Amino acid sequence: MEKFVIHGPVKLTGEVEISGAKNAAVAIIPAAILAQGKCVVENVPNISDVGLLCRMLQDMGARVRFLTNTTVEIDTTYLTNPVVPYELARHMRASYYFLGALLGRCSEASVSMPGGCCFGVRPIDQHIKGFEAMGAKVSIDGGMINARCDTLFGAHIYFDVVSVGATINVMLAAVRAKGITILENAAKEPHIVDLANFLNSMGADIRGAGTDVIKIHGVDMLHGTTYSIVPDQIEAGTYMVAAAATGGDVLIRNVIPKHLESITEKLEKSGALVVEYDDAVRVTRKGPVEKINLKTMPHPGFPTDMQPQMTAMLTIANGASIVTEGVWDNRFRYVDELRRLGAQISVDGKVAVVQGVPKLTGAPVKATDLRAGAAMIIAGLIAEGKTEIEDIYHIERGYEDIVGKLNRLGADIRRVSIPDSPLVQAL
Ligand code: EPU
Repeated sequence: MEKFVIHGPVKLTGEVEISGAKNAAVAIIPAAILAQGKCVVENVPNISDVGLLCRMLQDMGARVRFLTNTTVEIDTTYLTNPVVPYELARHMRASYYFLGALLGRCSEASVSMPGGCCFGVRPIDQHIKGFEAMGAKVSIDGGMINARCDTLFGAHIYFDVVSVGATINVMLAAVRAKGITILENAAKEPHIVDLANFLNSMGADIRGAGTDVIKIHGVDMLHGTTYSIVPDQIEAGTYMVAAAATGGDVLIRNVIPKHLESITEKLEKSGALVVEYDDAVRVTRKGPVEKINLKTMPHPGFPTDMQPQMTAMLTIANGASIVTEGVWDNRFRYVDELRRLGAQISVDGKVAVVQGVPKLTGAPVKATDLRAGAAMIIAGLIAEGKTEIEDIYHIERGYEDIVGKLNRLGADIRRVSIPDSPLVQAL
């Protein structure tokens, strides 16, 4: 087992390069199944979720080769086995994108119920509603989601909730279906647009991605392509908040500033200065962190995946901030960990009141999920003394080289091995 050890406080300064978007990569890699031929995907983040998806593809018979650290070639010509087993699927949510992609390619799919971060119940009824509307039969048996069809037909689908996953999965199934599919109340996140651009570069006909109505004309065949993934909005936002939280001065490069607007707005309200360039943003803070209120919402609202990091910063604000989670039922599990560092936060359902304190003090904590782990890092950078973060595999699912990137900004963070405790050894 490994943990991160951080010595704080520190002011982050310098430049950091943002990697390709995790949540686009985890949709685009399964989408390569739909091509007749090779796909070369560039700007792929070097994170464990990507490694796992590539293993799933190989398990199905695809050839996957890394041409560089961030470029992967996927050839699914000889795909034989439309099954994603439990051992692989249980580690991540996006494994379920193989359902839509395999339905589109092979008319059948068997994918174990997915894992991923735990924010309470994570239903998939909207995915199933979409597949069934297109003529697929879906059953759940022995922990496997099985979907099959003779022919998939375009359909008019109204999603009851705005769901990134359902929008992506049904879009994957629809690109090779017969006829037109219309998705209403679709999610609008940048990774939805990126997936649509990737599929269109393979010959798909998708219009309206990025709005709440997406129209897909099914095509008979998709060809291979070369495509570069967009920069990661959430990784960029995480470094923006880390810069502001530490009172630092950081130029965050390889970003799309438009994708960061809701984060920029909240940071400016909290006393940071954000300067936008064509493909970079510079974040500085000289005065105190000011209290703010925020509510997470689907894009273009403030992203739920930035909520824990922002809360970590607000622990040292002047006054009480109110943070409302508008997407997930239970995304405040990490608050107990922040309290170990001296944060004063009370939670009532989906609302947290963060009473700013003059300082945090280092302590051992856990990463309870991916973004909660990023919040622990930010808190560790602010806190006086040593913060040790366990369960860092959550963080490494989604942040490329976070230790290297932070250390180059002046942080003192190390990844160290922890021997099993005598209790574990005795088991
Ligand atoms: N929902 C349903 N039924 C469904 C699907 C979703 O009721 O069939 C509900 C969920 O319970 C939730 C809301 O709809 O309350 C939104 O869920 P969504 O489907 O949009 O989430 P997701 O696709 O499972 C993706 C990201 C998450 C991010 C959410 C919201 C990926 C792989 N995951 O999850 O990212 O929090 O969208 O933006 O894209 C992360 O990167 O740390 C992460 C957790």
